[in-house]
Order: sequence, then structure tokens, then C-alpha cells
Amino acid sequence: MEHHRTHYCGTLRAEHSGEVVRLYGWVHRRRDLGKLTFITLRDRTGICQIIFDAESDSELHLAAKEIRGEFVIGVAGSVKRRQAGMENPDMPTGDIEVRVTELQILNQAKTPPFGFDDPPEASEETRLKFRYLDLRRPRMQRNLRQRHETTLLARNHLSEAGFLEIETPYLTKSTPEGARDYLVPSRVNPGRFYALPQSPQLFKQLLMVAGYDRYFQIVRCFRDEDLRSDRQPEFTQIDIEMSFARQEDIFQLIEPLMQRTFAAAGVSVSAPFGRMPYAEAISHYGSDKPDLRFEMTIIDCSTVVEKIDAPLFRQAVEQGWTTRALNVPGGAHFSRKDLQNIEDEARQIGAKGLLWIKRVEGKYLSPILKHLSEADCAAFSEKLALSNGDCAFLQIGPVSDVLKVLGALRLSLARRENLIPAGEFRFVWVYDFPLLEWDAGENRWVACHHPFTSPREEDLEKLEEKPGDVRAQAYDLVLNGIEIGGGSIRIHRSDVQRRMFSALGMTAEEARRRFGFFLDALEFGTPPHGGIALGLDRLCMILAGESSIRDVIAFPKTTSAICLMTDSPSTVDTHQLAELHITTTE
Ligand code: AMO
Repeated sequence: MEHHRTHYCGTLRAEHSGEVVRLYGWVHRRRDLGKLTFITLRDRTGICQIIFDAESDSELHLAAKEIRGEFVIGVAGSVKRRQAGMENPDMPTGDIEVRVTELQILNQAKTPPFGFDDPPEASEETRLKFRYLDLRRPRMQRNLRQRHETTLLARNHLSEAGFLEIETPYLTKSTPEGARDYLVPSRVNPGRFYALPQSPQLFKQLLMVAGYDRYFQIVRCFRDEDLRSDRQPEFTQIDIEMSFARQEDIFQLIEPLMQRTFAAAGVSVSAPFGRMPYAEAISHYGSDKPDLRFEMTIIDCSTVVEKIDAPLFRQAVEQGWTTRALNVPGGAHFSRKDLQNIEDEARQIGAKGLLWIKRVEGKYLSPILKHLSEADCAAFSEKLALSNGDCAFLQIGPVSDVLKVLGALRLSLARRENLIPAGEFRFVWVYDFPLLEWDAGENRWVACHHPFTSPREEDLEKLEEKPGDVRAQAYDLVLNGIEIGGGSIRIHRSDVQRRMFSALGMTAEEARRRFGFFLDALEFGTPPHGGIALGLDRLCMILAGESSIRDVIAFPKTTSAICLMTDSPSTVDTHQLAELHITTTE
């Protein structure tokens, strides 16, 4: 290439009029109008119009006829203000055009399988197969630029706060975080495997033992788990650890980081964020990641039900079940069909059925009306703050089942009723999680967060006798109902760490085999410490207003963990397997 680019296409403005510029880019569109050929030239900053005029250079105009969509060209020319009335207000460069005086065709292109306008016309499958073309879309360009800015901002923020970015290994030993590991066979150590890290959890704690005091890393993590729109098998964390830190110190580090990140995207966020104990999140919102952009909390109606002499409610009381409800404001408009659909949805979530009560012009409507006296209706009405025009949904059953159903229904009813305000960002810290939960499948206690999370000091004595009652010093950062971060204060005493492993059903030998190096390290002067990891992909997804993290990742995988572009995972040559001492059964 002979000459340097002087400008990016999308940056030209009226003030550049009269300047001679040199641009490189892709041919977005071309239009021939007799002696004039108009081309919109595109690069990663946007598009601008360039013109070939036969009157001023017929040879050049002829050469331009060869240009097709997506050809890569270089042009030189002078920037001119467009004629009055010819401006395009939809284009940031719409006030100007470039009159071309020099053309280089740098490469040709086949006709792409889809266009690059937003919203995309092609299926996601096709777009992922040709991801390098899909990434030419303005929206993807914007998303990836915003992701770069978010990452840079986080890095600067943490560095300014005295944190060192330190890399930890990708080929390592498995540190369980609840998902399966991706394993990497070792060629030189037959029969042995590395695991790709689910997170750098143990390494960052070891850096605290080593005295590094404040660590961060923008790091890829790998988890073999069921995928969804907000989960990828490899994803990126802003991973943080801090010595001598309490929970509140972590909150106060992250809140200004979030404020800066959102301010950069033009959104003002106020701090301190709300703080909500786990138990409250579960009982009011049926979820440990409450979406606080709308109210509609879950209401306990058990005291009302206890007084009603109807078979259904009597059975509930006898079984020790609970009755909880959601009041959908304005929900009285639900038709019979709507109500049936909502009930079907509840059944899919796991409900056995769904009761409803409407209040219309002071009267009550409900399939169980014949079991309810006027006073019962009034009691429900008062408990649920049921106004005229509202409709409440009741769920009876074991408390955890009921909360699960109503938590999910709360979200879908809010979407159905358009109760979620656009452009709102509601952060909340959820804290005081239980340390352990019972896993019926495995028939043992498992860590709610991970096995290195500290119990609350005052609950430590219950670890052996009442493990289910121990609260953890763990916290999640939730934004608009999405968990964007999670962390904890860690166990820093090796005796407590041993007790934790034992509570998880590990024998001393097993704990030594799997975590001996870590238990040893804890004995060499480990400071109290804690940290957090933010899900960068999820954060960027919310900032970009996307509903899938695939839209903020350059080369994502599908929900079946497949890369449609490279067709990975793929089979490998038998000699590669032989070298790795592996035989497959497929
Ligand atoms: P945790 O497992 O909660 O904590 O992960 C931290 C954050 O990472 C994001 N995240 C994901 N994002 C995309 N795809 C996934 N599969 C995925 N899994 C998790 C979420 C989550 O909040 N080591 C601890 C952190 C700590 O204790 O400091 C950990 O990894 O936004």
C-alpha cells in the first residue's frame, strides 16, 4: 500500500469540507445514476458516501463500474458538503460526500450470504457460521467497541485503586465451582489431565497468601454446564481479590466501578446500591436474583387461609403448606384464555395448579368463589392490597415449590403486562446466602457458592450439627434480575477449611489429595481476605441492551457448545489420540 489512510469513513463531518482524504474500506452499497456512481464505503467506524463523476474523470468512472459489494477499496478524494436538500440526517456523515480522484481495488469479494443491516435478516445459525461477516454489522461493531471500553475502564479503575493484574494458569488442576471441568490430556504424563479453570479461585487466594494484597485479572473461565442465553462454556470474568477486606469493602470497591462503567454508557447510577438478605430475596421475589425494576412482590396469605373453611385450604394447613400470592395490578382484564395460558405456564414451572381472584367494581371473581365468604374475600383483598381491576394469583404447597413458581411467574407476568420500565438499571447486593445446600441427588451437602467461602463467624459452631443453618459471608451483585457478579469473604484458617471439606462429605485423605497444596498454604500466614468476580459478558450484554451474551462476544458458541464457524469440537486424528494415550468409545 502506497499511502496512509487519513481518516476513518464514519468520522468525516462538514468541517472536513475542502480536505483531501484517503479512505480504505468495504463497499457497502453502490448506485449508478448515469454519469454518477455513488458508493457507500464502510469501515469499523461507519459509512460515508463517495462519488465517481464521469464528467470530471471518465476513466475513473469506468473503473468504478467493476466494483461490487464488499470489495475492499482505497480511495483518495476531496470532501464536499452535499448540495442543500441532499443531506442524509440518518447518517452521521450525511452532510458530506467524497469526490473520488483516485481508486485502488485491493480485493474482490463473493456476494455475502446476507446483508449487514440491523436488525439482521439472517438466522443466528447462518450468522454464526459466517461470523466474520456478521461482525461487519454496525450493532456488533458498536457492541465490541463498548466491550473494549468497559474492559479498559475496569482495568484502569482497578489499577488506580492499587490492584495488580496477575495472570494465573489455564492448564491447572480442577477447582470445583459446581460445573463440570473441561479436561486437557497430558501427552508427557500418560493418563493425567489438566483442567481448564472454572475460575482462578484458588490461585487468587494463593496470591493473597503470597502477600500481593490486591489482585485482579480479566480472565477467561471455562465451565462445562448447560448453556443458556447468559451462559457460555468459556466466558470472561473481572476477577478480584483483596486482603484484609470485609464484605462492605468489596461493595465499596465495586459500586464506583459500576457507576463509572454506566456513566461511560451515558447512564447515571446512584450508590450505595440496595442490600438485601438472601432470605428476603427468596420470600419477596422467589429468587436470589430479584428484578427490582418493578414491584409485585410475593405476599404470604397463610394467615388468611388458616381461617377459611374450604377443603383445599384445610388440606394446606394440615400439610403445613404455605399459601402465597402475587397481585397483578390491572390484571382483571385477563380473559379466560389468558388465565388458562398463565396456569399452563405455572404448570410448566412445576405448579400443580393456579388459583386466581379478581376484583371488579367491588365484586370478587374466582373459580373458588363458592368456598369463600364475603369476609374471606375482604381478608384476601386486604392482605393482597387488591384494588378494583386487579387480579391475584395464589399458589398453595411446600414453601420452596411455591416460591419457585411465583418467582418465575412474577417475571413472566411483568413482561406480559409491560410492567418493566425500559432504560432502568436496578442494582442490588444479595447477601447472607446459606453456606451449604442439600443435594438430594448426591446425598450430601454442597457449597452454595464454593468450598472456600467463609461461614459467618457466629454460625461457625453450627457447621457440624446444623449445616443447613450456617450463613455464608457470600454476596451476589444483581442487576435487573441478572447475576452479574458473585464473591465472598474466604476461609483463611486451615482448621476451618478442613471442617468445611468434611462438612461437604470429604474424608481427610480426599481433601489432602485434592487440595493438599492449598491446605498447606493456609498454614504459612494467610491474611483474612475476600473478593468477587464480575461476569464481563453479562455486564456488556446489559450495557448494550442485548438479551444474549452471544451478541457481545466476537466468536461465541451455540447453546450446544458448538462453534458453527470452525465446526468445533471436532474429531481428531487417531495418531493424536494415541500420543495422548486416549482411546474413544464413539
Ligand atoms: P461465580 O461462579 O458466581 O463466582 O461467577 C462469577 C460471575 O461470572 C458470571 N458467570 C458466567 N457468565 C457467562 N457464562 C457462564 N457460564 C458464567 N458462569 C458465571 C456471572 C457470575 O456472577 N470464583 C468465584 C468468584 C469469587 O468467589 O470471587 C466465581 O467464579 O456473572
